[in-house]
Amino acid sequence: MPTVLITGANRGIGLQYARTYGRDGWRVHACCRHPDKAKALREDCGGEVVLHRLDVTDGLRVQGLAREMSDEPIDLLINNAGMMGPRDGFGHTDYNAWMDALQANALAPMRMAEAFVGSMRASERKVIVNMSSKMGSIGSNQKSNAHIYRTSKTALNMVTKCQANALGPEGFTVICFHPGWVQTEMGGPEAEISVEQSVAGMRNVIAKLDASDNGKFFNYDGEELPW
Ligand SMILES: NC(=O)c1ccc[n+]([C@@H]2O[C@H](COP(=O)([O-])OP(=O)(O)OC[C@H]3O[C@@H](n4cnc5c(N)ncnc54)[C@H](OP(=O)(O)O)[C@@H]3O)[C@@H](O)[C@H]2O)c1
Repeated sequence: MPTVLITGANRGIGLQYARTYGRDGWRVHACCRHPDKAKALREDCGGEVVLHRLDVTDGLRVQGLAREMSDEPIDLLINNAGMMGPRDGFGHTDYNAWMDALQANALAPMRMAEAFVGSMRASERKVIVNMSSKMGSIGSNQKSNAHIYRTSKTALNMVTKCQANALGPEGFTVICFHPGWVQTEMGGPEAEISVEQSVAGMRNVIAKLDASDNGKFFNYDGEELPW
């Protein structure tokens, strides 16, 4: 049975990944900051779902969890946890909030990959998925708002490329996704697609990945996106 580890699995896109992989018989390691409050995660997910307390910006905890799980191969790591931060534009930058966003959105996915690479090497699939955003694309950006979030996802895109270059020779496939504009707390109720549509699309892409996809940036429907 394949194994997936998901960060930020208590709500939104992360919860839907946990639900659907769990129902399909995968072993799911669902990480979140407050497992005691993660009612939907505890109650809605079928199959074998193991909850772990994890703030992805807590380096010691990330390393501790990786040590606790070191005997178990991990086929798929989904670096999903993320935050928006203040969306104010030029002239209104909150530099502390910017550091927080970089920690959660860009540094943590590298921290997770470095901590869990041993468990992933022991697996069959060796796939890392970083949940990025079109808002991190330099090539397609026409706006000046939300530079805190945008730059953190741009950094994540480069993290993805560097991970792909480092791990591709060992048989890993590392990609990043724009999940669509999705109806979650982050995306809001006016967003274009449901979590069901977004995650079904991304799971379809993940299921078909091969070595030639290493280092690519995909939309949830499989279209390749500009950096
Ligand atoms: N929704 C969209 O339209 C959209 C578009 C593009 C990209 N994305 C990306 O897709 C991913 C999931 O988004 P979403 O829409 O599901 O967002 P969401 O509903 O706001 O959920 C964010 C998740 O990340 C967790 N999280 C935040 N900081 C964390 C930390 N330091 N440690 C551990 N968990 C942390 C949250 O946990 P708590 O409940 O504890 O806060 C929550 O589980 C994010 O990376 C986001 O940037 C979303």
